[in-house]
Amino acid sequence: MRAILQSTYGSVDSLRLGDVARPEPAEDEVLIRVRAASVHPDVWHVVAGRPAVLRLMGSGVQRPRERIPGTDVAGVVESVGTAVTRFKPGDDVFGETVRGVGWRNGGAYAEYVAAPDAGLALKPSTVSFEEASAVPTAGLIALNHLPQSKVPPGSRVLVNGAAGGVGALAVQLAKAYGAEVSGVDHASKLDLVRAVGADRAIDYAQEDFTLTGDKWDLIFDVPGNHTFRDVRRALDTRGHYVLIGHDGFGAIGHRWLGSMPRVLGLMARSAVTPQLRGANFAPPDKRQLMSILARFMETGELRVVLDRTFPLAQTPEALRHMMSGQPVGRVVVQIDG
Ligand SMILES: NC(=O)c1ccc[n+]([C@@H]2O[C@H](COP(=O)([O-])OP(=O)(O)OC[C@H]3O[C@@H](n4cnc5c(N)ncnc54)[C@H](OP(=O)(O)O)[C@@H]3O)[C@@H](O)[C@H]2O)c1
Repeated sequence: MRAILQSTYGSVDSLRLGDVARPEPAEDEVLIRVRAASVHPDVWHVVAGRPAVLRLMGSGVQRPRERIPGTDVAGVVESVGTAVTRFKPGDDVFGETVRGVGWRNGGAYAEYVAAPDAGLALKPSTVSFEEASAVPTAGLIALNHLPQSKVPPGSRVLVNGAAGGVGALAVQLAKAYGAEVSGVDHASKLDLVRAVGADRAIDYAQEDFTLTGDKWDLIFDVPGNHTFRDVRRALDTRGHYVLIGHDGFGAIGHRWLGSMPRVLGLMARSAVTPQLRGANFAPPDKRQLMSILARFMETGELRVVLDRTFPLAQTPEALRHMMSGQPVGRVVVQIDG
């Protein structure tokens, strides 16, 4: 089969299209004929090998252990392992191809991928393969940190980085729960922020949300460009703060540890600061969360705005386009059968 191959950590330009054997599904895996695979910042982390600690976390020390990048797919079930009962050949599915949680290549940029059944769900028929492929990893992180139980109807929620992969889904989840949502992002992306349902769209270059005098019950912060001390001004005393963190493709994050020192610092501080107890660091129950995401997609409460698609051979260009910061919506690699 054709696949994008990574032989070393470094630039996206070192990725090559090549031919490799089709994977065989293990007993709990599903072999998927890939129709679409999205690009997102976590794919870049493994291609670049940054932060360096990811190499010690299962990705491979000298070079990636799994040569084919990509973690988020949508496609058609080709065959299933002996222990898989939820899916059958011919089903349209979408999901995350990596086992557990972590920065690793997942084999998605290929004509076929073998994925653990726990990370998959049936694709709603109303959603295209391209749209579905953009949901899994971003949706899992958004939903894990923003469960319905944390957002009672009428809550005031602010999503910082609201037009991004994770932020646009967080806005829609909060709206689906009945919250009043403010979304902060770059001026060129505020139409998208409104289109996904935000009641108020804030241009981060014009207005600093920590200085407006407004208060929110939950601040879901993707870029993390303010200190918690500043964010606290905009947080209700009983409110919660959730930091996702963004390395800016190496421009911001710590070379060895990325956003980890900051996240770990906030975790430690949460023992004495109730406002920091909003984040959920328990590993996600992917099977349950994927079925919730699929349900929201089916009802139309969760939708994906696509910026652009690229053919498999142009995966490096797709990654470069994502890294440019220009896309308004998601970038997806399409694989023709
Ligand atoms: N997408 C996924 O599937 C996924 C899954 C798991 C984890 N993550 C992690 O989650 C983080 C976010 O991923 P993402 O896909 O949402 O990234 P993204 O698509 O790059 O979104 C980040 C958004 O934040 C905006 N932004 C930058 N600076 C800002 C500021 N000062 N104030 C407000 N908004 C600002 C960016 O706009 P401009 O750049 O135009 O300014 C962009 O729209 C990354 O660290 C990633 O590793 C992502």
